[in-house]
Amino acid sequence: MNTLNVIDLDNHLQNQTPQQILQFALGEFDKIALSFSGAEDVVLVDMAIRIRPDVGVFCLDTGRLHAETYQFIEKVRKHYGIQIDIMFPDADAVRELVSQKGLFSFYEDNHQECCAIRKIGPLKKKLLTLDAWVTGQRKDQSPGTRANIPVIQDDKVFARPGEKLTKFNPLANWTLEQVWNYIRAYEVPYNPLHERGFISIGCEPCTRPVGPGQHEREGRWWWEEATKKECGLHASNIKGE
Ligand code: ADX
Ligand code: SF4
Repeated sequence: MNTLNVIDLDNHLQNQTPQQILQFALGEFDKIALSFSGAEDVVLVDMAIRIRPDVGVFCLDTGRLHAETYQFIEKVRKHYGIQIDIMFPDADAVRELVSQKGLFSFYEDNHQECCAIRKIGPLKKKLLTLDAWVTGQRKDQSPGTRANIPVIQDDKVFARPGEKLTKFNPLANWTLEQVWNYIRAYEVPYNPLHERGFISIGCEPCTRPVGPGQHEREGRWWWEEATKKECGLHASNIKGE
């Protein structure tokens, strides 16, 4: 697929359902896996296993997820009878960071350094084994950074030199409401934190519940400016990167 094809395909796939997009993605690529955060992106797992029961699923275990999220990941593994590849950060890099700057350095400088070690490093390692990956990103998750995400894109940020990596965002055009309608209709298991005011769920120290009228993204890295609220997993969402 060259760049032009990806743009044409995106125009076409924009009008398709998440299931149709997944059907296309899983039909097109063998070395493809879902990046599952342990939150409402569980809908993608539910949809994908109906198409390919042995679909690859991976989680980036930052070491700082909520206890509820770890329990939920385990629940999903058992519920669907799937293998989940749990990726860990480099132990020496974590040790160096926390020895020098403590366990909560992200509140003082910003979250980028910790995310780079705990999320991006493990993601890069996983993507070395893949030709395509699937995320649960949606446009409505972050007006500041995700309003224009495509359904399919050339992932230039994480592609190996000289090779192509394709990224799919099948839920791009779905709203939070559609996601939750699906979860209820198909009795999909969900993270119990959602019943305690959490909408968007990331690491425990960097996520908090939101109040009435607040946007879901306000519960993430709340001490930082809205247009910077990407951890680097989806760096291409930030202009200029
Ligand atoms: S983040 O970049 O701000 O942390 P967000 O929580 O909105 O991302 O999730 C968007 C998508 O990124 C998820 O649906 C998932 O595909 C991927 N993702 C985020 N965090 C993780 C994680 N810990 N493990 C695997 N995938 C993740
Ligand atoms: Fe570190 Fe917070 Fe990023 Fe998690 S979200 S990797 S705890 S800065």
